[in-house]
Amino acid sequence: MLLTEAQLETFDKEGYVFLPEVYSQAEIDVLMGEVPGIFALDRVENVREKTGKSVRTTFAAHTFNEAFRRLGRHPRMIEPVRQILGGEVYMHQYKINAKAAFDGDVWQWHQDYGTWARDDAMPEARAMNIALFLEDVTEFNGALMFIPRSHKKGVIEAGHDLETTSYPLWTIDEDTISKLVAEGGIVSPKGPAGSVIMFHSTLVHGSPSNMSPFDRTIVYLSLCHVENHIRQFKRPEWIAHRDFDPIVPLADDCLMELAGKSAAAE
Ligand code: SIN
Ligand code: MN
Repeated sequence: MLLTEAQLETFDKEGYVFLPEVYSQAEIDVLMGEVPGIFALDRVENVREKTGKSVRTTFAAHTFNEAFRRLGRHPRMIEPVRQILGGEVYMHQYKINAKAAFDGDVWQWHQDYGTWARDDAMPEARAMNIALFLEDVTEFNGALMFIPRSHKKGVIEAGHDLETTSYPLWTIDEDTISKLVAEGGIVSPKGPAGSVIMFHSTLVHGSPSNMSPFDRTIVYLSLCHVENHIRQFKRPEWIAHRDFDPIVPLADDCLMELAGKSAAAE
Protein backbone atom coordinates (compact mmCIF):
# COMPACT_ATOMS: atom_id res chain seq x y z
CA MET A 1 0.00 0.00 0.00
CA LEU A 2 1.50 3.30 -1.08
CA LEU A 3 0.34 6.84 -0.34
CA THR A 4 -1.01 9.07 -3.11
CA GLU A 5 0.68 12.35 -4.02
CA ALA A 6 -2.09 14.21 -2.16
CA GLN A 7 -1.53 12.12 1.00
CA LEU A 8 2.23 12.68 0.83
CA GLU A 9 1.61 16.40 0.51
CA THR A 10 -0.73 16.37 3.54
CA PHE A 11 1.85 14.50 5.59
CA ASP A 12 4.59 16.95 4.67
CA LYS A 13 2.45 20.04 5.30
CA GLU A 14 0.39 19.00 8.35
CA GLY A 15 2.69 16.38 9.90
CA TYR A 16 0.20 13.52 9.81
CA VAL A 17 -2.15 11.59 7.55
CA PHE A 18 -5.25 9.68 8.65
CA LEU A 19 -6.28 6.60 6.67
CA PRO A 20 -9.69 5.23 7.67
CA GLU A 21 -10.39 1.49 7.62
CA VAL A 22 -7.12 0.15 6.23
CA TYR A 23 -7.60 -3.20 8.03
CA SER A 24 -10.77 -5.32 7.95
CA GLN A 25 -12.73 -6.23 11.07
CA ALA A 26 -11.61 -9.86 10.55
CA GLU A 27 -7.94 -8.77 10.70
CA ILE A 28 -8.60 -6.62 13.77
CA ASP A 29 -10.31 -9.60 15.42
CA VAL A 30 -7.11 -11.64 14.97
CA LEU A 31 -5.07 -8.97 16.78
CA MET A 32 -7.63 -8.04 19.45
CA GLY A 33 -8.16 -11.72 20.20
CA GLU A 34 -4.57 -11.77 21.52
CA VAL A 35 -4.72 -8.60 23.61
CA PRO A 36 -6.38 -9.86 26.83
CA GLY A 37 -3.86 -12.72 27.02
CA ILE A 38 -0.94 -10.33 26.43
CA PHE A 39 -2.14 -7.89 29.11
CA ALA A 40 -2.50 -10.80 31.56
CA LEU A 41 1.15 -11.85 31.15
CA ASP A 42 3.53 -11.23 34.01
CA ARG A 43 6.23 -9.66 31.84
CA VAL A 44 8.47 -6.64 32.23
CA GLU A 45 7.14 -5.32 28.88
CA ASN A 46 3.71 -4.73 30.47
CA VAL A 47 3.84 -1.25 32.05
CA ARG A 48 0.80 -0.62 34.26
CA GLU A 49 -1.03 2.64 35.03
CA LYS A 50 -0.26 4.36 38.35
CA THR A 51 -3.35 2.74 39.84
CA GLY A 52 -1.79 -0.66 39.16
CA LYS A 53 -5.18 -1.74 37.81
CA SER A 54 -4.70 -1.83 34.07
CA VAL A 55 -1.90 -2.12 31.55
CA ARG A 56 -0.92 1.26 30.07
CA THR A 57 1.53 0.00 27.44
CA THR A 58 2.82 -3.35 26.29
CA PHE A 59 6.22 -2.96 24.67
CA ALA A 60 7.70 -5.25 22.03
CA ALA A 61 4.72 -7.60 21.57
CA HIS A 62 6.18 -8.39 18.12
CA THR A 63 8.96 -10.30 19.92
CA PHE A 64 6.69 -12.70 21.81
CA ASN A 65 3.32 -12.89 20.05
CA GLU A 66 2.87 -14.28 16.53
CA ALA A 67 -0.06 -12.05 15.46
CA PHE A 68 1.77 -8.89 16.53
CA ARG A 69 5.01 -10.20 14.98
CA ARG A 70 3.15 -10.37 11.68
CA LEU A 71 1.69 -6.89 12.13
CA GLY A 72 5.25 -5.62 12.66
CA ARG A 73 6.10 -6.84 9.16
CA HIS A 74 2.77 -6.14 7.53
CA PRO A 75 3.09 -4.52 4.09
CA ARG A 76 0.29 -2.02 4.79
CA MET A 77 2.30 -0.77 7.79
CA ILE A 78 5.83 -0.97 6.35
CA GLU A 79 5.49 0.17 2.72
CA PRO A 80 4.02 3.66 3.26
CA VAL A 81 6.67 4.38 5.91
CA ARG A 82 9.47 3.26 3.59
CA GLN A 83 7.94 5.57 1.01
CA ILE A 84 8.05 8.59 3.35
CA LEU A 85 11.46 7.84 4.90
CA GLY A 86 12.98 7.00 1.52
CA GLY A 87 14.47 3.56 2.12
CA GLU A 88 14.69 0.48 4.32
CA VAL A 89 13.40 0.71 7.88
CA TYR A 90 13.90 -1.15 11.16
CA MET A 91 11.68 -1.30 14.28
CA HIS A 92 12.85 1.23 16.84
CA GLN A 93 9.90 0.73 19.21
CA TYR A 94 6.66 -1.25 19.25
CA LYS A 95 3.85 -0.58 21.69
CA ILE A 96 0.24 -1.53 22.33
CA ASN A 97 -1.29 1.40 24.22
CA ALA A 98 -4.38 0.35 26.08
CA LYS A 99 -5.92 3.51 27.56
CA ALA A 100 -8.39 1.38 29.50
CA ALA A 101 -11.97 2.45 30.23
CA PHE A 102 -12.11 4.70 33.35
CA ASP A 103 -8.40 4.09 34.13
CA GLY A 104 -6.40 5.13 31.04
CA ASP A 105 -4.18 8.07 31.99
CA VAL A 106 -2.99 11.07 29.95
CA TRP A 107 -0.02 11.23 27.60
CA GLN A 108 1.36 14.72 28.17
CA TRP A 109 2.26 16.99 25.24
CA HIS A 110 5.48 15.75 23.63
CA GLN A 111 7.41 14.94 20.46
CA ASP A 112 8.52 11.33 20.03
CA TYR A 113 11.79 12.34 18.40
CA GLY A 114 12.50 14.47 21.48
CA THR A 115 12.82 11.22 23.46
CA TRP A 116 14.56 9.28 20.72
CA ALA A 117 17.20 12.02 20.34
CA ARG A 118 17.78 12.65 24.06
CA ASP A 119 17.55 9.10 25.40
CA ASP A 120 18.65 6.99 22.43
CA ALA A 121 20.93 9.37 20.45
CA MET A 122 19.02 8.82 17.23
CA PRO A 123 20.89 11.10 14.79
CA GLU A 124 17.99 12.63 12.82
CA ALA A 125 14.19 12.77 12.83
CA ARG A 126 14.24 10.18 10.05
CA ALA A 127 11.84 7.92 11.92
CA MET A 128 8.09 8.02 12.49
CA ASN A 129 5.01 6.34 13.88
CA ILE A 130 2.37 4.37 12.10
CA ALA A 131 -0.52 3.56 14.43
CA LEU A 132 -3.42 1.15 13.97
CA PHE A 133 -6.69 1.52 15.91
CA LEU A 134 -7.58 -1.88 17.37
CA GLU A 135 -10.81 -0.41 18.78
CA ASP A 136 -13.00 2.51 17.71
CA VAL A 137 -11.52 5.86 18.71
CA THR A 138 -14.14 8.46 19.60
CA GLU A 139 -14.34 11.86 21.31
CA PHE A 140 -14.93 9.98 24.57
CA ASN A 141 -12.12 7.47 24.98
CA GLY A 142 -8.89 9.44 24.89
CA ALA A 143 -8.24 10.12 21.21
CA LEU A 144 -4.81 11.42 20.19
CA MET A 145 -4.48 15.20 19.83
CA PHE A 146 -2.06 16.64 17.26
CA ILE A 147 -0.89 20.22 16.74
CA PRO A 148 -0.80 20.42 12.94
CA ARG A 149 2.42 21.80 11.39
CA SER A 150 4.28 21.70 14.72
CA HIS A 151 6.67 19.14 13.14
CA LYS A 152 8.25 22.01 11.21
CA LYS A 153 9.67 23.47 14.45
CA GLY A 154 12.37 20.81 14.87
CA VAL A 155 13.24 19.53 18.34
CA ILE A 156 11.52 21.70 20.97
CA GLU A 157 12.91 22.20 24.47
CA ALA A 158 11.40 19.72 26.93
CA GLY A 159 11.59 18.65 30.56
CA HIS A 160 11.82 15.07 31.78
CA ASP A 161 8.55 14.37 33.60
CA LEU A 162 8.99 11.46 35.99
CA GLU A 163 5.93 12.28 38.11
CA THR A 164 2.70 12.73 36.18
CA THR A 165 2.13 9.19 34.93
CA SER A 166 3.67 5.78 35.44
CA TYR A 167 5.93 6.27 32.40
CA PRO A 168 8.71 8.92 32.13
CA LEU A 169 8.37 11.32 29.20
CA TRP A 170 10.10 14.41 27.80
CA THR A 171 7.23 16.91 27.89
CA ILE A 172 6.73 20.43 26.50
CA ASP A 173 5.72 23.36 28.72
CA GLU A 174 2.31 25.09 28.63
CA ASP A 175 3.53 28.42 27.18
CA THR A 176 5.11 26.67 24.22
CA ILE A 177 2.00 24.54 23.66
CA SER A 178 -0.22 27.66 23.78
CA LYS A 179 1.90 29.36 21.11
CA LEU A 180 1.96 26.30 18.88
CA VAL A 181 -1.81 25.84 19.19
CA ALA A 182 -2.40 29.54 18.40
CA GLU A 183 -0.60 28.89 15.10
CA GLY A 184 -1.74 25.39 14.18
CA GLY A 185 -4.85 24.56 16.25
CA ILE A 186 -5.54 21.04 17.49
CA VAL A 187 -6.91 18.09 15.55
CA SER A 188 -8.03 14.76 16.87
CA PRO A 189 -8.49 12.13 14.18
CA LYS A 190 -11.16 9.63 15.18
CA GLY A 191 -12.54 6.58 13.43
CA PRO A 192 -13.41 2.91 13.55
CA ALA A 193 -11.12 0.05 14.45
CA GLY A 194 -8.89 -0.74 11.47
CA SER A 195 -8.03 2.91 10.80
CA VAL A 196 -4.39 4.03 10.56
CA ILE A 197 -2.60 7.24 11.51
CA MET A 198 0.89 8.08 10.32
CA PHE A 199 2.64 10.97 12.02
CA HIS A 200 5.97 12.75 11.88
CA SER A 201 8.38 12.15 14.75
CA THR A 202 8.59 15.86 15.59
CA LEU A 203 4.80 16.41 15.50
CA VAL A 204 3.67 17.62 18.95
CA HIS A 205 0.94 15.36 20.34
CA GLY A 206 -0.68 14.00 23.48
CA SER A 207 -3.93 12.45 24.63
CA PRO A 208 -6.35 12.99 27.54
CA SER A 209 -7.38 10.43 30.09
CA ASN A 210 -10.14 7.95 29.33
CA MET A 211 -13.04 8.51 31.72
CA SER A 212 -15.48 6.72 29.42
CA PRO A 213 -16.60 3.09 29.78
CA PHE A 214 -14.97 2.32 26.40
CA ASP A 215 -11.46 0.88 26.06
CA ARG A 216 -9.20 2.47 23.44
CA THR A 217 -6.45 0.18 22.24
CA ILE A 218 -3.99 1.46 19.62
CA VAL A 219 -0.83 -0.26 18.40
CA TYR A 220 2.16 1.89 17.37
CA LEU A 221 5.08 0.88 15.18
CA SER A 222 7.92 3.40 15.47
CA LEU A 223 10.01 2.81 12.38
CA CYS A 224 13.42 4.31 11.67
CA HIS A 225 15.54 4.48 8.52
CA VAL A 226 18.24 1.81 8.87
CA GLU A 227 21.08 4.34 8.45
CA ASN A 228 19.60 6.48 11.23
CA HIS A 229 19.76 3.80 13.93
CA ILE A 230 20.22 4.78 17.56
CA ARG A 231 23.75 5.28 18.88
CA GLN A 232 23.11 5.08 22.64
CA PHE A 233 21.77 2.07 24.53
CA LYS A 234 20.63 3.61 27.80
CA ARG A 235 17.06 2.29 27.74
CA PRO A 236 16.22 -1.42 27.90
CA GLU A 237 16.28 -3.29 24.63
CA TRP A 238 12.53 -4.00 24.84
CA ILE A 239 11.87 -0.22 24.78
CA ALA A 240 14.52 0.94 22.27
CA HIS A 241 15.34 -1.97 19.98
CA ARG A 242 18.81 -2.84 18.70
CA ASP A 243 18.02 -5.03 15.72
CA PHE A 244 18.81 -2.66 12.87
CA ASP A 245 18.21 -5.16 10.05
CA PRO A 246 15.74 -3.98 7.40
CA ILE A 247 12.20 -5.29 7.89
CA VAL A 248 11.13 -7.60 5.09
CA PRO A 249 7.35 -7.32 4.66
CA LEU A 250 5.20 -10.47 4.70
CA ALA A 251 2.28 -11.23 2.38
CA ASP A 252 -0.77 -8.99 2.60
CA ASP A 253 -2.98 -11.84 3.88
CA CYS A 254 -0.56 -12.87 6.68
CA LEU A 255 -2.98 -11.91 9.47
CA MET A 256 -5.90 -13.75 7.91
CA GLU A 257 -3.84 -16.96 7.92
CA LEU A 258 -4.20 -16.82 11.71
CA ALA A 259 -7.98 -16.26 11.72
CA GLY A 260 -9.68 -18.81 13.94
CA LYS A 261 -6.35 -20.02 15.40
CA SER A 262 -4.67 -18.98 18.60
CA ALA A 263 -1.47 -17.04 17.87
CA ALA A 264 -0.28 -17.29 21.44
CA ALA A 265 3.34 -16.86 22.43
CA GLU A 266 5.80 -18.92 20.43
C1 SIN B 1 2.16 8.29 22.51
O1 SIN B 1 2.16 9.47 22.30
O2 SIN B 1 3.21 7.65 22.38
C2 SIN B 1 0.92 7.56 22.93
C3 SIN B 1 -0.29 8.35 23.02
C4 SIN B 1 -1.52 7.52 23.18
O3 SIN B 1 -1.51 6.31 22.92
O4 SIN B 1 -2.55 8.08 23.54
MN1 MN C 1 4.18 9.86 21.41
